[in-house]
Order: sequence, then C-alpha cells, then structure tokens
Amino acid sequence: MLDIETQPLDAFWGSLGGPSNDECHLALVDISRPTRHSGLAEGAWRDVLCGAERTRLDAFKSAAAAWEYEASHVALRLILERCLKIPASKIQFRRPGVPFQAPELVDIGSHAIKASLSHSGRFAAIATSRSSAVGADVEPLSRAKDAYEVVHMFLCDEELACLAEMSTGRRMAAALRAWCMKEAVLKAAGAGFQIDPTTIWLNIKHPGVPQLTSIKAPAGDLALSVCSAVVPTRPEALVALAVEPTIRSIQVSCLSLEELVAAASLTRTCWQDRRSAREQG
Ligand SMILES: CC(C)(COP(=O)(O)OP(=O)(O)OC[C@H]1O[C@@H](n2cnc3c(N)ncnc32)[C@H](O)[C@@H]1OP(=O)(O)O)[C@@H](O)C(=O)NCCC(=O)NCCS
Repeated sequence: MLDIETQPLDAFWGSLGGPSNDECHLALVDISRPTRHSGLAEGAWRDVLCGAERTRLDAFKSAAAAWEYEASHVALRLILERCLKIPASKIQFRRPGVPFQAPELVDIGSHAIKASLSHSGRFAAIATSRSSAVGADVEPLSRAKDAYEVVHMFLCDEELACLAEMSTGRRMAAALRAWCMKEAVLKAAGAGFQIDPTTIWLNIKHPGVPQLTSIKAPAGDLALSVCSAVVPTRPEALVALAVEPTIRSIQVSCLSLEELVAAASLTRTCWQDRRSAREQG
C-alpha cells in the first residue's frame, strides 16, 4: 500500500537529506515569476545552471517559457544539492543524443539517486528516490479540455470505452488524470514517447487511488505504482507520480521557489559553519 503524506517544508527538507530507501519525495514548487515585492530577484540563481542549460535558456523566444525552464531547473538542482550534498552547480547530467531519452545524473558515487522533473506554467514537480525509478508530471487543471480532445492518442480501447460510460462532466477531468499519470509512467521508464501511451492500461474509473501498472521499458519490463492528486493547497494543478512497488510512502510538500531558495541557503550556511568548526579544531 502506498502511503501519501503531505509535509510542511522543514519536515520535508529534513527527510529529503536522509537515507530512507522505501520512500520517495515529491516537491510541488510554485515557480511564478518574482514580483517587485518578492524576495527573489529574477536571474539571481542562474549561476547554478550548467553550460548546456544556459544555452537552452538563451534559445527561448518567450520570456515566460525561459523563466519556466530556468526556475524549474534551478529548483531541481537545489533539491538534488540537498539529497546529494554536492553543490548545485557541480551536479552533472548526461544529456541523451537521441530524442525521448531521459537525462541521467552522472558521477554521484555512493549517493545513488533518481530524479524526475516536470514543469508546466506556474508549477514544477520534482520527484526523487534513492532506490526506485521515478516519474513525475504536473499539469494545470485548465488543460483538461486539451487532453480530452486528443484522448485517442493516449488511451487504449478499454480506457476509451470506460470514458464513454462517464457523464460529460467527468470525462474531461478523467482524460487529464490519465494523461498526467501516463506521462509519469513514461518518464519513470525513462523512455518518453519511445513507448506508445496506448500500450499502458490504467483504471481510469478510480484515478485517485494508487494503482499498479506495467510497462515494457527499453531496459526491460517495469512494474510501477502510479497515483495522481490535486494537492488542496494548490488546487490549480494536478500532479502524478509513478514509482516502483518497493516504495511504501510518498512525502509531498508544496513550496514556492523563494522558500526553496531560503531552505537551500540555510543548509549551505550550516554546512559552511560545520566545515569551519572542523577546520578550526
Ligand atoms: C518526457 C515526456 C514524456 C514529457 O514531456 P513534457 O510533458 O512535454 O514535459 P515535462 O515538463 O513533464 O517534462 C520535461 C522534463 O522531463 C525530463 N525528460 C525528458 N525526457 C525524458 C524521458 N525520456 N524520461 C524521463 N524524463 C524525461 C527532462 O528533465 C525534461 O525537462 P526539460 O525539458 O526542461 O529539460 C516527453 O517525451 C514528451 O514529449 N511529452 C509530450 C506530451 C504529450 O503529448 N503527452 C501525451 C499524454 S501521455
């Protein structure tokens, strides 16, 4: 049974740095653009990004899309810094040379960890696990109509029949849930659209309940537990997570980028204080 627990930031941040193997962490980060009144200056944390990320950032034509990319990648790196105890700017990803392949963390030695990033408008979802494949997806609820219009692209015949039995009002919400959960499954498999989403079966009648599914991933068959939820404090977003069945609990926290930056800064100060204390004596 998969236990989903929403935690305040300090408890979440504490367990994120811990060694637990049977839990997974999911941060839902509000990456709204900073306003004049927020404590976070736009661009202030850009220096944690690597050369490839900055090149990609420079290529965006839309300022909103560039910010979404920058903020979500900064958030991913700060979370990984906490998990790996490696400075965010030193974390390296192997970027695949082929389409649809997952970016992979490299040179993380004994601190093996898997991570998944999703970003969409105001939100980034970042999942991490020390033992399991993970896939996260976040979608604004406002995209339900878009998902419903292309259901034939990602639902199998059985799921389409199930959708047809639903009331009109429920269909769009069910389509978005299925979209979000299938994206999470495809990302946990690390293959994106190398896998046809219509080959994945989900019980779309009860999408709020964690369920088991299996997928033929490039590295072999993979069993996954998948769930989706609207977190009450962030009712505009739907988030989905896929993990291996060995994971017993999911720790979820909703935070703003500003809060994440503050928590990371505080942790860095503690590490520096400890290092100076060790050096002095
Ligand atoms: C990875 C994929 C599955 C999801 O991408 P997406 O929904 O567009 O975007 P998300 O924000 O959720 O995820 C993007 C992040 O996933 C990661 N990613 C990319 N390829 C990945 C893969 N094969 N496996 C796991 N993670 C992957 C990257 O960190 C990427 O971030 P970046 O683009 O800023 O570098 C992609 O293959 C895709 O093209 N999706 C299209 C969406 C769609 O039509 N879905 C139909 C419903 S199932």
